[in-house]
Amino acid sequence: MNSLFDLTGKTALVTGSTKGIGRSMAKGLAAAGAKVIVTGRKQPDCDAVASDLAAESGGDLIGMACHMGDWDQIDALVERAYAELGKLDVLINNAGINPAPVMLADCTSEYWDKVYDVNLKGPMRLAAKVAPRMGAAGGGSIINITTMGAYHGGPAVGVYTSCKAALHNLTKVMAAEWTGLGVRVNALAPGPFMSEMMKGADRVRPGFADAAGDATLMKRVADCDEVIGSILYLASDASSFVTGIDLKVAGGMSG
Ligand SMILES: NC(=O)c1ccc[n+]([C@@H]2O[C@H](COP(=O)([O-])OP(=O)(O)OC[C@H]3O[C@@H](n4cnc5c(N)ncnc54)[C@H](OP(=O)(O)O)[C@@H]3O)[C@@H](O)[C@H]2O)c1
Repeated sequence: MNSLFDLTGKTALVTGSTKGIGRSMAKGLAAAGAKVIVTGRKQPDCDAVASDLAAESGGDLIGMACHMGDWDQIDALVERAYAELGKLDVLINNAGINPAPVMLADCTSEYWDKVYDVNLKGPMRLAAKVAPRMGAAGGGSIINITTMGAYHGGPAVGVYTSCKAALHNLTKVMAAEWTGLGVRVNALAPGPFMSEMMKGADRVRPGFADAAGDATLMKRVADCDEVIGSILYLASDASSFVTGIDLKVAGGMSG
């Protein structure tokens, strides 16, 4: 049964994999046999994490910097990925930002654009550039990382949660448009994970992490590595008949 999750011979690109849950995803995919591209904004950071994860996982990883708010960089990333790896079987749109909360009455055009550019417009562009090439090579799996907050509205987090809700919708659009190419597209909605983002939110709003943990049935915040099993499921043939869903990995948090 292990072969269902085996990624030997596959290639994977994980955006935002220098830290947090993306780093764990890259590690897990590499341990399962995939050659993995680690991305973040700075090339030296990508190289360092790729090297660290190769040592931790025994796998094969390479760093390629890309700012997900910049379409020119996204297009260049795709060209570089195909030039150096020849194909992409798995794409995970994980990079995301959740800046200090603002009430809608205080939201500036710059704040809105920054959050939407990185969390929604960039992932759409990257997936749209990769899917046809994935299809031409026989298919693949695209996973968009959203949030449990996408199912709710709450004060001061609406810019972040609304773009993630839109990403849920775009996931279904992508699945509908690309099933004929053999490309499956699913979303993974994380609950609270103890990443850099979570630590940052807890610094801005002390007690945030504990409250987020308390909002789960399991009454805790997850370790980043607890995302690995679910991401391997969506990335591999274990989910060969699954497309257009959003998988909640959230300790029973309601959504
Ligand atoms: N942690 C949670 O509890 C939680 C809950 C729900 C949803 N999520 C979602 O899960 C994803 C990962 O979150 P995380 O908590 O692991 O975050 P994190 O610890 O802050 O890590 C974010 C990653 O994204 C990269 N990144 C940030 N801005 C970028 C940009 N403009 N272009 C390219 N890469 C960028 C960072 O790399 P560099 O800094 O090296 O550029 C880093 O690798 C996000 O989409 C987030 O919305 C997380």
